[in-house]
Amino acid sequence: MLYRSMLFAPGSDTKKMNKAYGLEADAIILDLEDAVAHSQKATAREQVKEFLGSPPAKPTFVRVNDAKTPFILADLQAAAGKPITGIFLAKTESAEEVKHVDWLLSLLEGEQVPEKQKLELVPFLETSLGVEKAYDIACACPRVKRLALGGNDFTTDIGTPYSTTGDEFFYARSRLVVASRAAGIEAPLDTVCPFIKDTDSLQEDAKRAQRLGFQGKMVIHPNQIGPVNTIFSPSEKEINNARKIVAAFEEAEAKGTGVIQVDGKMVEYPIVNRARQVLAIASAKGLA
Ligand code: COA
Ligand code: MG
Repeated sequence: MLYRSMLFAPGSDTKKMNKAYGLEADAIILDLEDAVAHSQKATAREQVKEFLGSPPAKPTFVRVNDAKTPFILADLQAAAGKPITGIFLAKTESAEEVKHVDWLLSLLEGEQVPEKQKLELVPFLETSLGVEKAYDIACACPRVKRLALGGNDFTTDIGTPYSTTGDEFFYARSRLVVASRAAGIEAPLDTVCPFIKDTDSLQEDAKRAQRLGFQGKMVIHPNQIGPVNTIFSPSEKEINNARKIVAAFEEAEAKGTGVIQVDGKMVEYPIVNRARQVLAIASAKGLA
């Protein structure tokens, strides 16, 4: 399952949680962490529990407070056994934390739960330590299918603002992409972009993440969903180009040739495999 966009809705705001499901995001993240005032933590948890009393209409994740806070157990209790896909673990900084949460979830889910029905765990890497430990965290347990980058906390941690040029994320983004591939899990999810009124900056931000190898981007506002879905979907031009490459290469390969040129670009096995990846993503998204 590849997600182009995942929309956050604060767990303390039932109106936004309901509205989220009528929008075009590929998945929804109900937040119990930073979008919820400290005084509202218990109320938000109860509201999310109640909200999940009936199965949500889209893949849904709950973001729980980090494993070092006193909220973690009650948050996991609220999410376990609910009809959701998984849990985002805020401010993850070590494989041990992930294993700890994996163990708690196993206790809450019970031993009889088949592997496929176990909740996924998405470590949110949003501090320097978390980014530094990305590979260990990606390998921590089979529930981890992908990582997520949290830019607002990360920029605060390294002492920079969240810019419109993205320089401050270059290393962290690449680190997550490479760690994920090395660990054999899916490509990661990019940070939310805080500029909800500035679509140009959002688009540039999303394109940077897409070029660096992210599968999609988390979003915070309805206006951000459309541009992010477009940027993380192969374009018609890319799909046609991929088809052309595959067809030309297969024809050449059948005649015993392993390298050709298509429209002035060398095509050999890795290039044709990349073209097949594009077609697979397009097909999964109903675009080809
Ligand atoms: N999910 C669902 N609906 C949302 C939404 C979201 N994340 N953000 C805004 N909306 C809705 C609003 O409720 C409003 O609906 P209405 O027209 O039916 O009244 C509409 O979209 C327009 O919203 P707008 O007035 O532009 O924004 P706002 O001031 O209501 O909210 C934020 C702005 C930033 C507070 C809001 O977008 C938000 O809470 N985002 C998620 C924050 C979050 O979860 N952060 C944690 C991860 S970093
Ligand atoms: Mg945060």
